[in-house]
Amino acid sequence: MVQATPLLLVLFLALGAHGLAVKKCSLTGRWVNDLGSNMTIMTVNANGAFAGSYHTAVTATSNEIKLSPLQGSMQKSPNQKGQPTFGFTVNWSFSDSITVFTGQCFVDEYGKEVLKTMWLLRSHVENIKNDWKATRVGTNVFTRLQSQE
Ligand code: BTN
Repeated sequence: MVQATPLLLVLFLALGAHGLAVKKCSLTGRWVNDLGSNMTIMTVNANGAFAGSYHTAVTATSNEIKLSPLQGSMQKSPNQKGQPTFGFTVNWSFSDSITVFTGQCFVDEYGKEVLKTMWLLRSHVENIKNDWKATRVGTNVFTRLQSQE
């Protein structure tokens, strides 16, 4: 029993360390949100900058929806603990509007990555008197699009 103790300790530490390896949330890849919009985020560089594309499922305009570019930034501080905060801007290619998103990349209780975001959609208005109605606000939840293998 006395000799077995160090062995059990090593075994416990090895299993424990493995079990405690916390899954990190990565922004890179393809995402779909609760409206059915699709987003692709390319590589996040060493400074946290990233680019990608956005295909919205809905529009506040009567224009034909087109794929639009996005540019963003991910917080790189050590306090992020694998669940980083981020922001990105979508410059709509088919309208006069701009949307900014801000959010956090989480790993949920089932180990699934989820992006919880809030957004501001700024529409173009003809004059300053219409400024009051130019900004919409909302939330979107994104989950990872599984690749078809
Ligand atoms: C426009 O209508 O002028 C551009 C498209 C805006 C789409 C908005 S952005 C916030 C919300 N989330 C989406 O995925 N689409 C809408």
